[in-house]
Amino acid sequence: MKKTVILIIGTPSIGKTTIARELTKKLSACYINLSSLVYTYNLSQGYDETRKTSIIDEKKTRKKIKEIIISTKTSNIIIDGHYAASVVPEEYVTKAFVLRRNPIELKKLMEKRHFHGNKLWENLESEILDVCLIDTLSELEENKVCEIDITSKAVKEVINHILSIISNKKECQIGKIDWLKMLETKGIIDDYLKK
Ligand SMILES: Nc1ncnc2c1ncn2[C@@H]1O[C@H](COP(=O)(O)OP(=O)(O)OP(=O)(O)O)[C@@H](O)[C@H]1O
Ligand SMILES: [Mg+2]
Repeated sequence: MKKTVILIIGTPSIGKTTIARELTKKLSACYINLSSLVYTYNLSQGYDETRKTSIIDEKKTRKKIKEIIISTKTSNIIIDGHYAASVVPEEYVTKAFVLRRNPIELKKLMEKRHFHGNKLWENLESEILDVCLIDTLSELEENKVCEIDITSKAVKEVINHILSIISNKKECQIGKIDWLKMLETKGIIDDYLKK
């Protein structure tokens, strides 16, 4: 059976899990959350004290994901995680959606989730400097990667956009988003790049 494997990528707190879970329902898919997968199968190789995150074992994680993709009975698989492109073997990836959110809105979302200090500025900087997009493009062919601006969008609207791209009704685009320019134009760049 030909499997459709969709990656949902984006800066921490951007809205990956919210979108990935809804898409999973729409497509009756198998859902993989990378953080949960790493925890459940003990796929980490240590803990980064400074960054307060586990260091994942990419080789073991890749092997586990391959096993799940091959063995699952469903034809659609949704994989949710900011580093999904580096642990899902490229030959299985159908499309990778990099979710983007205006940093002004993202900062508010992060604060609501009690992010503060270095972690907040580090993640905000990643979003402003397109880190997830660049990392994804370093792993996958460009034609598999689509950026979706989810700023101020309802979940339903984002899902419809993703479904339209999957069914070739809408174009998959990258490179249209420029948060740096937007912040510069507004004259507030120094308020957002504080790391
Ligand atoms: N389209 C949306 N509109 C408004 N709020 C949203 C939207 N999508 C997600 N949120 C809210 O943003 C917060 C973060 O969402 P979510 O947990 O989906 O992000 P995430 O990218 O999976 O985060 P993490 O990287 O920590 O796993 C949640 O409080 C969620 O309710
Ligand atoms: Mg999540």
